[in-house]
Amino acid sequence: MSEDFAGRVLGWFDMHGRHDLPWQHPREPYRVWLSEIMLQQTQVATVIPYFQRFLARFPDLRSLAEAPIDDVLAHWAGLGYYARARNLHRCAQALMAQHGGEFPRSSAAVMALPGIGRSTAGAILSQAFGDRHPILDGNVRRVFARHAAISGWPGEPAVQRQLWALAEARLPTDRLADYSQGLMDLGATLCTSRRPACERCPVAADCQARIQNTVTRYPAAKPRRERPRRRAHLLLLRNRAGELLLERRPPTGIWGGLWCPPLLAEELSPSDWVQSRQLRTDATTEMPVVHHAFTHFDLELLPLEMQVSMDSGLADPGHWRWVETAGLHQLGLPAPIAKLLKSRSPSRP
Ligand code: ADE
Repeated sequence: MSEDFAGRVLGWFDMHGRHDLPWQHPREPYRVWLSEIMLQQTQVATVIPYFQRFLARFPDLRSLAEAPIDDVLAHWAGLGYYARARNLHRCAQALMAQHGGEFPRSSAAVMALPGIGRSTAGAILSQAFGDRHPILDGNVRRVFARHAAISGWPGEPAVQRQLWALAEARLPTDRLADYSQGLMDLGATLCTSRRPACERCPVAADCQARIQNTVTRYPAAKPRRERPRRRAHLLLLRNRAGELLLERRPPTGIWGGLWCPPLLAEELSPSDWVQSRQLRTDATTEMPVVHHAFTHFDLELLPLEMQVSMDSGLADPGHWRWVETAGLHQLGLPAPIAKLLKSRSPSRP
């Protein structure tokens, strides 16, 4: 089916790929390695001037290995993800100390270096030496996921395995450096995530996603985890004077330390709660649910208005307070509670 996939990528690369990137001339290990680390989370156009300044200051592996880390970081400043610069520096020192200042040729040895995963190792070895190793960065993953209509999120190990197997199976027998670069260029310029230019793609004819007209469905997005939901009764207890009962929240947990009407986990019974505190209530009204989104969960408040005809407990003023409506805004009430109370109280001048 995908006969000569690599040949078509190479043919396209010859005509339309990027041939004037500074790390392509000359394509030697130190420059390729440096460029691949810089390109890990950063676009080509941003990387180019950094690459050139970095090389001017650290022209070879030895000069990088012997430089003070602060000097290395200063030349990285603005590129972001500074762990990359620290790893690069440690890597240079390891290459000098353990590999005689040469870049190792086995992918296991390259992957053992700090900050280099399988795809970066493949990109370095294929481009620096023309060795036969697959690559699978974000752009290339998209090309393969579409071409073979690989469903599932690539973060799943099973999907990842399928994609690596494809990347391996499609490798040509020669021109590995151009093939790696061509695949990356194809992913970055034609097989883009939102608006792929399939009409210009050299592998569109047998692209399974293209044939099914489902190109933008691949690769599948990370499945969204359902946000956990918690529900709680919110007890709006008013006494004969019209004052509202507030409780100081425990210091940890939601709204820690704030004053708030009593909150009660959904599975607990509001009437038991009231009775066990020697409060007598004579009217209860259910109000509409209030939704509030916290960072890690959604809270659904089930407000209950209760008229209290007698209260004899709740002696601790550091913990319980009956507060008149006018005094509510002086207390640090949680915002959704303040909003709810405002909507329930008669407007005042
Ligand atoms: N991203 C990672 N490596 C790259 C390369 N060699 N060319 C373009 N983008 C890349």
